[in-house]
Amino acid sequence: SNPTGMVYTKEEISALADVLVKYPETWIITDDIYNRMLFDGLEYSNFVQARPELRERTVFVDSLSKTYGMPGWRVGFMAGPESIAQAVTTLNSNHITNIPEVTTAAAVAALSGPQDVTEAKNLEFQGKRDQVMAALAAIPGVVCPRPQGAFYVFPDISCAFGKSHNGVAINNDVDFCNALLEAKGVACVPGSAFGEPRALRISYTCPTPQLAPGMQRIQEFFAELA
Ligand SMILES: Cc1ncc(COP(=O)(O)O)c(C=O)c1O
Repeated sequence: SNPTGMVYTKEEISALADVLVKYPETWIITDDIYNRMLFDGLEYSNFVQARPELRERTVFVDSLSKTYGMPGWRVGFMAGPESIAQAVTTLNSNHITNIPEVTTAAAVAALSGPQDVTEAKNLEFQGKRDQVMAALAAIPGVVCPRPQGAFYVFPDISCAFGKSHNGVAINNDVDFCNALLEAKGVACVPGSAFGEPRALRISYTCPTPQLAPGMQRIQEFFAELA
């Protein structure tokens, strides 16, 4: 995941690449699955663009899950040095044999079809990001970094800790998620799953008509804390 939806700037990638150049024994595996899911005109940059000499030890990992809205199809790809590609092919041929024909056909259709679908989807997600951010801003005590891509928000909900909802004590993020699910039917992921126990991960991939009612239920839940 990228729960906060933060995006490295070109300058940050460049600075990291400058460090990696100094460590020639280090392999770089970069999971760039959200590289086309950027908002507000931001642009994707990577280590090889920054320092082309890193190409021989950089492995890019990507998937059709996010770019083409195909999570669960379990089809992805990687690009890297030939020696790595050959080793991964050997591993995969013993491990998964091959991906199913239907999935292969869907992947070919996605990769060879119109590529502007991702732009339309991005605009939709950007609008949803704004909608979710506005709903969270209306909840006293909740603060949230503004996502720059992907489709998650990661608000700090620790203002709820030590309180209770309909008699159910909320002492941490897991209590919060359980109570929210039980009371309001809204499913989120505790921030501790991503190393930040003060936070809550909300994914806004639900159909657009469900988003406003879902956020309203989260607002009600906070308002009902005692
Ligand atoms: C950063 C990141 N990498 C990889 C994946 C996995 O993608 P796939 O559906 O291709 O297994 C995800 C899915 O949530 C992700 O967020």
